[in-house]
Amino acid sequence: MSLEPTLRSELSDERPLLNGERSLKSRIKAKWYRLDRVSRVVFSLFALTISGIIVARVMIEIFDPLDLWNGPRVTIPPRVDDGNDTAHTDKERRTAVRSAMRHAWEGYHQHAFGHDELLPVSNKSNDKWGGWGVTLIDALDTLYIMELYDEFDQGVTHAVNVDFAKAKKGYTTPFFEMIIRSLAGLLTAYEMSLDRRLLDKAEQVGNVLLPAFNTSSGIPYPRVDVNTGQAVPASRVCLAEAGTVQLEYWKLSELTGNPVYHNAAQRVVDILDETEKPYPGLYPIWIDIESGNLTSGQITFGGQGDSWYEYMLKQYIFSHKKNDQYRRMYVESIDSMKEKMVKRSVFDPQMYYVGDLDSAAKRFSPKFQHLTCFVPGMLALGSKVLDRPDDLELAKNLTYTCFQMYNQTVTGLGPEYVLFRDDQDKGLTKTNHDDDFAVVSLGKAPDLEKADGYYLGYDKSYILRPETVESLMILYRITGDKVYKEWGWQIFLALEKWTKTNSAYSAYRDVTSTKRSSMLMDSMESFFLAETLKYLYLLFSPADYYSLDEYVFNTEAHPFKLLRH
Ligand SMILES: *[C@@H]1O[C@H](CO)[C@@H](O)[C@H](O)[C@H]1NC(C)=O
Ligand SMILES: *[C@@H]1O[C@H](CO)[C@@H](O)[C@H](O)[C@H]1NC(C)=O
Ligand SMILES: *[C@@H]1O[C@H](CO)[C@@H](O)[C@H](O)[C@H]1NC(C)=O
Ligand SMILES: *[C@@H]1O[C@H](CO)[C@@H](O)[C@H](O)[C@H]1NC(C)=O
Ligand SMILES: *[C@@H]1O[C@H](CO)[C@@H](O)[C@H](O)[C@H]1NC(C)=O
Ligand SMILES: *[C@@H]1O[C@H](CO)[C@@H](O)[C@H](O)[C@H]1NC(C)=O
Repeated sequence: MSLEPTLRSELSDERPLLNGERSLKSRIKAKWYRLDRVSRVVFSLFALTISGIIVARVMIEIFDPLDLWNGPRVTIPPRVDDGNDTAHTDKERRTAVRSAMRHAWEGYHQHAFGHDELLPVSNKSNDKWGGWGVTLIDALDTLYIMELYDEFDQGVTHAVNVDFAKAKKGYTTPFFEMIIRSLAGLLTAYEMSLDRRLLDKAEQVGNVLLPAFNTSSGIPYPRVDVNTGQAVPASRVCLAEAGTVQLEYWKLSELTGNPVYHNAAQRVVDILDETEKPYPGLYPIWIDIESGNLTSGQITFGGQGDSWYEYMLKQYIFSHKKNDQYRRMYVESIDSMKEKMVKRSVFDPQMYYVGDLDSAAKRFSPKFQHLTCFVPGMLALGSKVLDRPDDLELAKNLTYTCFQMYNQTVTGLGPEYVLFRDDQDKGLTKTNHDDDFAVVSLGKAPDLEKADGYYLGYDKSYILRPETVESLMILYRITGDKVYKEWGWQIFLALEKWTKTNSAYSAYRDVTSTKRSSMLMDSMESFFLAETLKYLYLLFSPADYYSLDEYVFNTEAHPFKLLRH
């Protein structure tokens, strides 16, 4: 409805001045001179002080190179409270994450280019992964995804000239790490840019590592000496090392047309599928290389076990849900995990966690590792792909715990692991189905610090790990619940505040301490660029950007296109 013109001018404040009425300006002037002298002085001083403060603040903002005023500078886009403006906010958040990536890359480029890692406090570098520039190779697809194409080209120019058939003298390559970081990084950089030289390099990496499979059982050795072209003999290898190379070798076979890689890697799955296990779908972490038997009784979804389970689901997705072996193995593992390894805190019954089992000693250990925080993401993905709604509920519950690991520390960063205990310090109270397990007693440990729901363990470091933000990204995409974005943003701000250095980002020794300068560990693993920042960026991106329906992310966050048929 529009108002009549006459009516509108009736309502307007700006009516013409009538004779005898004074203008606003002259009225203010008259009021000013009616004030007594003291009031005028006080008012002027007040106005001067306010403008002084504003000018000083602006000068500090511009000329404070030492960050004396604020500590490390954090660019915080304004928080938008009403949920209607998320597109705008997401864009700002994405930009902030992209700036973080650029900052880390620039530091690496300036001080450590071509080396494995930048030491982000001293600006030195190391070559502890063979000297082939693992940070650079791991970061390539993140740069591409963030549309940092100049930086991507910088990286590619170096990567295509690396000779993976030569290592520092005496250095032996960890087979699994090299595959998930470098082989995968080269493969996805190739799939994105279609620069053929990257595929050639990927093939070289795949080939120099193949001798690992030269064993009587076909279970790979954990290390290879690329200088001699021989694996380093060993008697055992852990589950994750042998069982997290399958997606990468399958993708390499797809892109090169050479089945040798996929066949070697698939053999490991077949052996472990057949081998005897203490419980259906639960695999102790040590494999005897000669026999292919599972030795020891330690079962974990944390370090050394984790990605073996992840890859059952991911290979199933990669195969367009065609391969029934992976589906069966995954379902079996998750059902057993839920039955035997998932428990809840007695302090906060909302907090669920996945502990470790020792099937030989019949013990349950109520320790929840940061690494295990990939589990909720896996469960959420599996719930969608395999239509298992209960898994999604558990995924939400576990994600809540993972977020609490961050939310309850003074820095807002999450520790390496936490411990759950009951009031009597005897470990967690027994729940329905664990009658045959004694819960490990953590003993009287008065120096353990209690948070709401759990205790902090002895290792309180945060080494820039990705698993929690990885699960946040997947949970957001699968549930559409915006709370996961808020949690991710809170974590990002904590990263900016506590771990950012002048040249990049650093691991942090104790997340419960605010003595920042003595906590920075002068270390930045390549997964910070490959995974942590990538998952944060995707969390704030539209869900169809590198969609989970079209890509499967390897355990180092390298997104592979699903198998072509
Ligand atoms: C946000 O959107 C809802 C419905 O979509 C609406 O009722 C509400 O008024 C909006 N809030 C603002 C601040 O625009
Ligand atoms: C496999 O190992 C044997 C020794 O165990 C060695 O003689 C042979 O050259 C190796 N083959 C490859 C392809 O590495
Ligand atoms: C491997 O396990 C099988 C049965 O599970 C057993 O018969 C065989 O002796 C084991 N081999 C070794 C070397 O432990
Ligand atoms: C998740 O947590 C809620 C609330 O504690 C609980 O009712 C539900 O049973 C849990 N679901 C799973 C699968 O853990
Ligand atoms: C995170 O911590 C703050 C302050 O300790 C608290 O107010 C908030 O409820 C916590 N968030 C969640 C989701 O528990
Ligand atoms: C490290 O490099 C950054 C720039 O990348 C610089 O600001 C900082 O002062 C350097 N730190 C040391 C210890 O040299």
